Amino acid sequence: MKQAKFLAIVAASLFYASFPLAGQDAPQGTAAPAGEQQHHMPLPKPTNLKVLPKDISPDDLIKTMRGYSQALGVHCNFCHEVDEKTHKANFAADTKEDKKFARTMIAMTREINTKFMTQINDPDAKPADKTVTCGTCHRGSQMPAQFVPKPEEHGPAPGAMPMQKPQ
Ligand code: HEC
Ligand code: HEC
Repeated sequence: MKQAKFLAIVAASLFYASFPLAGQDAPQGTAAPAGEQQHHMPLPKPTNLKVLPKDISPDDLIKTMRGYSQALGVHCNFCHEVDEKTHKANFAADTKEDKKFARTMIAMTREINTKFMTQINDPDAKPADKTVTCGTCHRGSQMPAQFVPKPEEHGPAPGAMPMQKPQ
């Protein structure tokens, strides 16, 4: 439970990843020099975004992608084509079925949040509580686990059909 909640928060926080940690008490000496916050291998400008904002920053794009990977418990190659010999990924290619599924899931998740979650006015819920993320359903698995209710702990409910006697 705790871990699932943590995952959901991690995933949710990715949506707010562009917010700087300003105002928080960062331990002394942890502020990275400007250059170090850049990725070692800068990603080329995305060319094939259909659901994510086309002007998303490379930093936010990669954080979002890491979030998907964590939420589903997979690596980038689950959705992206990677050349077996060169190990080079072609992120723009739409060859993998799961990338297409993911697009639908991204659109669905957005719709749940903008269209439906906004109608729930629960004063106790913090923003992360009322944000559905990939992790809300997937919880670290590529296929969300089916919910199986616990077997009833007490005897049959009053009025339940009596068990059939063996012949
Ligand atoms: C669950 C599926 C999934 C996983 C896992 C995933 N991605 Fe993606 N990625 C997508 C989808 C879907 C798009 C296209 C989004 C769109 O159409 O707006 C995309 C787009 C991209 C793009 C932009 C490509 C372009 O030129 O348009 C890059 C770069 C990228 N992903 C990198 C990564 C990296 C790096 C990882 C691993 C850390 C990763 N992705 C993991 C689904 C995934
Ligand atoms: C409301 C619950 C829910 C949310 C939120 C959700 N998913 Fe899913 N996802 C599902 C279910 C249920 C399936 C199984 C559908 C099927 O197999 O027909 C699934 C299947 C998938 C698959 C195919 C998995 C496979 O093994 O082939 C991918 C990829 C995926 N989701 C990505 C995502 C991503 C990325 C996000 C966040 C942007 C996301 N999902 C958010 C419920 C959800």
